Amino acid sequence: MKKKVVILTGAGISAESGISTFRDSDGLWEQYRVEDVATYDAYLRNPELVLNFYNERRRQLFAVKPNEGHRQLVRLEEKYDVHIITQNIDNLHEQAGSTHVLHLHGELTKARSDKDDSLIVEIGDRDICLGDKAPDGAQLRPHIVWFGEAVPNIEPAAALCEEADYFVVIGTSMNVYPAAGLIHYVPKGVPCYLVDPKAVPISRPITIVQEKAGTGVKKVVDELLAQ
Ligand code: APR
Repeated sequence: MKKKVVILTGAGISAESGISTFRDSDGLWEQYRVEDVATYDAYLRNPELVLNFYNERRRQLFAVKPNEGHRQLVRLEEKYDVHIITQNIDNLHEQAGSTHVLHLHGELTKARSDKDDSLIVEIGDRDICLGDKAPDGAQLRPHIVWFGEAVPNIEPAAALCEEADYFVVIGTSMNVYPAAGLIHYVPKGVPCYLVDPKAVPISRPITIVQEKAGTGVKKVVDELLAQ
């Protein structure tokens, strides 16, 4: 039975692929107000602005590719049962070849009925425009968790953390809940690792690799493969 490695990733792991993070300088939230583009009220108030915000990000996703940080995590699957819990809405982990990826905040390549959350369709790189309908005839909306909306995958994510033999945090400022609270489900004594060029306050013993994902993830992967 392979040991379980659970990995929590955020925008930082996709930064070297060319996708901006949210809270770094020149991050997305410096150019846009969250309340204008990433809340359900914003969508009701100005649906075209919100649809175009995600259309821009989807187009960007199809112009970039995974980086060494994503690729290194795939190596772990040789020896471990690897589960990635990502806050990212890009599909770069999947493109790199990771086989178990759980998205907490949704996925850019999917859309859903704005009347029925369970009616989800694959749209790939297609824009979503006002008037595009879901199979139930309702307007299509991005399959993204906006601020203030429920995070349906938090329960399975917490269950994974409770079973972790190793826990790795990569490229997240740990600012947004419930994602940032997942570390508290990891049992005491489980070895934890953090890869981030900045210091991130974590309230438990953790091995810190204060580097970008492009070089830092390999160090953690090499250590885990040498166990
Ligand atoms: N490699 C690794 N980490 C990096 C890199 C890099 N090249 N560049 C930046 N980082 C780190 C930053 O130091 C920071 O700790 O990535 C983190 C990015 O933090 P945020 O911009 O806050 O992104 P994230 O934590 O993923 O945000 C969580 O907030 O806006 C919402 O829904 C959105 O999923 C997002 C959530």
